[in-house]
Amino acid sequence: MDKLRITGGRSLHGRIRISGAKNAVLPILAASLLANESVSIRRVPQLQDVSTMMNLLSTMGVGVVVESSDGVGIDPSTISNPFADYSLVKTMRASILVLGPLLAKVGEAIVSLPGGCAIGARPVNLHVDGLRALGAEVAVENGYIHAKASQLKGAHILLDSVTVTGTQNLMMAATLADGKTVLENAAREPEVVDLANFLNRMGAKISGAGSATIKIEGVESLHGVEYNVIADRIETGTYLVAAAITGGSVELVDTNPVLLESVLLKLEEAGADLDIRENSIALDMGGRRAQAVTLTTSPHPAFPTDMQAQFMALNTVAKGVGMVTETIFENRFMHVPELQRMGANIRMQGHTVVVDGVESLTGARVMATDLRASAGLVLAGLAAKGETVIERIYHIDRGYETIEEKLMQLGADIERLP
Ligand code: UD1
Repeated sequence: MDKLRITGGRSLHGRIRISGAKNAVLPILAASLLANESVSIRRVPQLQDVSTMMNLLSTMGVGVVVESSDGVGIDPSTISNPFADYSLVKTMRASILVLGPLLAKVGEAIVSLPGGCAIGARPVNLHVDGLRALGAEVAVENGYIHAKASQLKGAHILLDSVTVTGTQNLMMAATLADGKTVLENAAREPEVVDLANFLNRMGAKISGAGSATIKIEGVESLHGVEYNVIADRIETGTYLVAAAITGGSVELVDTNPVLLESVLLKLEEAGADLDIRENSIALDMGGRRAQAVTLTTSPHPAFPTDMQAQFMALNTVAKGVGMVTETIFENRFMHVPELQRMGANIRMQGHTVVVDGVESLTGARVMATDLRASAGLVLAGLAAKGETVIERIYHIDRGYETIEEKLMQLGADIERLP
């Protein structure tokens, strides 16, 4: 298994191009199943999760063609097998996103339950309940969700709690339902909006995406489209913290500041100078040590749970005490013991972690436990004195395109070890 070796202590400076968003392209690839014609998706990041989704679509008989370095073509007309096997779903929970489109398009879906994961139980009950409300017959047995519906019917659905992929699954299913669907307490994440834009470009009638109430007027069929995926706001935030934690400066291009306002506010609070343009963000720390920040993760537009580990890393070497409260996932502090091994002063109090910043961390051998925790450890390694080796780096390859190349571009001393 690959490892990353980082020799920390260098201040990072430079310019990076941000990739397309992992959490936008995965639902968009799944939504391609709904079309009657081929679709072309552009700005597709080369990530393990994207390969897994492409693989999953291929196993269903769907035509999947790599059209360019960041372009993928999907021909859903050949779909023959509406089945998502456990062996693929267990490697990527987002595989559940094929459930809604398959059901709407071919009237049946057999999708493995994802099971638990490192950061919490992560049930999919709201996806299942929502599909039942749309008229599907759903049986959950032998570890699989088996859903059937000859024709889904529009419904009024109040989601018990905010779920991103749940909202996306129901929105996709409802595009081909008979009549109108209203989703209340819908997720407002930018990736939900991007999916709605993609579906609308294929002929769907969706309004309100980005607000808590999404309305979907069912249509008979969807046509082909060529579509560009939005920028990855979590990748953007991660590289901003990389500059902040090393006292450096970075210019990120091809991104969209509007997607991560809560993160930018926290960076300013940490003492970073920001120059925000329409499609770029420049951050300058001017060699200063960051000020600790207190934050609570919450659904969009509040602070994203996917940036929690990175800001915790920033707090470990910041001036003062910062409190980090996680409200989305019950077990998303797996990086804490690893940061402590690097010399961080952290106390856990239930869902809150109190971080008392130290002058500097020391490099250590640490273990990546999930995607964003790994990013937090990479950032800590960049700031630490000496050598940090991060094991199980495959987690980071799921969501960060060529991370070591991008960090090297900024002057980091980082190397992948087989
Ligand atoms: C998505 C993102 C992930 C991000 C998360 C929260 C993708 C591919 N992944 O994950 O990066 O960290 O949103 O912003 O977009 N829940 C239920 N029942 C359900 C569904 C969810 O109880 O049926 C709970 C979950 O256990 C969790 C919370 O709701 O505690 C939010 O989860 P959800 O928004 O569904 O996360 P994902 O869509 O899996």
